[in-house]
Amino acid sequence: MGSLLASGTGAPFSTRLGPLLAGEKTGAVLAKGLPMSLGPGREPGRRSEHVPVMVDQVVELLSPVPAGVVLDATVGGGGHARACLQARSDLEVVGLDRDPSAVWAASQALAEFGPRARVVQERFDHLGPVLDRLGVGLLSGALFDLGVSSPQLDEPARGFSYRLDGPLDMRMDPSQELSAATVVNQWGAEELAELFRDHGEARFAWRIAAGVVAARPISTTAELARVVERAVPPAARRPGHPAKRVFQALRAVVNQELEVLPVALDAAIDRLRPGGRLVAISYHSGEDRTVKDRLRYASTGGCSCPPGLPCACGAVPRVRLLRRGALKASAQEVALNPRARSARLRAAEALGAGLGDRRPGSGPGPGLPAGPGRGAEHTESEDQ
Ligand SMILES: C[S@@+](CC[C@H](N)C(=O)[O-])C[C@H]1O[C@@H](n2cnc3c(N)ncnc32)[C@H](O)[C@@H]1O
Repeated sequence: MGSLLASGTGAPFSTRLGPLLAGEKTGAVLAKGLPMSLGPGREPGRRSEHVPVMVDQVVELLSPVPAGVVLDATVGGGGHARACLQARSDLEVVGLDRDPSAVWAASQALAEFGPRARVVQERFDHLGPVLDRLGVGLLSGALFDLGVSSPQLDEPARGFSYRLDGPLDMRMDPSQELSAATVVNQWGAEELAELFRDHGEARFAWRIAAGVVAARPISTTAELARVVERAVPPAARRPGHPAKRVFQALRAVVNQELEVLPVALDAAIDRLRPGGRLVAISYHSGEDRTVKDRLRYASTGGCSCPPGLPCACGAVPRVRLLRRGALKASAQEVALNPRARSARLRAAEALGAGLGDRRPGSGPGPGLPAGPGRGAEHTESEDQ
């Protein structure tokens, strides 16, 4: 997957679109191609708004970072990026999103910041080559606000939601081949059962998979939601819609969510300058486990020595955790924005010269109160 820069033109988004954007105020925005929202019936103005989650906490966590570039790996509607740019005039943002509609939305939301904001359509596990092409070396911050955005969920044609009827799609990047329709209609029952089991449907994974296979061809989200509903006995249902985890599992596999996340987190940590910080917000336990795992690995350097003994394995910690558990959104925020209910935020700071000899895994440094410790075990997940 390449951006316009990768194709060798290097031309900014606003220049490439020429007359389409004539008269519009755009920053130095870069993209892979024509935003999907400019296609027929997809005017940008019809998108629903994404309300960013835990913005105050993100801004506060990034407030002490050195001046420079913050990578917003999931720029979405640009809400977090905008708040960071407003809070610190010595920060720039490079925003990535694999969804061309989001690239469009973020480019609009961040236009007033001119060259301080650059937006690229790219998957976040390709952050290294993008930053190289933009001439960005070390990062002052990196933000991962994972999952899907409200415009993706709320547009039936994107096929992400069990609450809205639409085609079985779920591709964040509509130019990729694999869609949910292929998985639902072509995968074997065993593969489907394993997928659903891996995403929290332990008890009824096989029944749901068998129901899906028997109901083929399934072409819409509503049909699939009904098949799942029929497979899960009412008395055994957990809170929320029975199709919630099945849709989440399909979305994850269609977009290779759990494969690309660890690669991207490691790459972002490698790019942090001393004192630079990484903040990650996840919305289901699979994502949060990956974030926790990669941050723990970076904070211990992979140390394999017995706990309590001095490190003798030569591991070099890269970051210190800013809190031990995950931070949750406040009750007030959840009341205003139900999407915040399942959010779990974790953060770490890159160690500087002279700090690298801290005992691996020596726990959270000063800065934020220690968390409840059980934050990572949430099994609640966002509603799709
Ligand atoms: C929760 S939204 C981010 C919202 C954003 N923080 C804001 O303030 O508007 C998540 C975004 O991440 C994007 N995304 C998910 N996985 C991605 C990946 N692997 N690479 C790039 N973008 C990704 C989605 O397309 C979506 O727009």
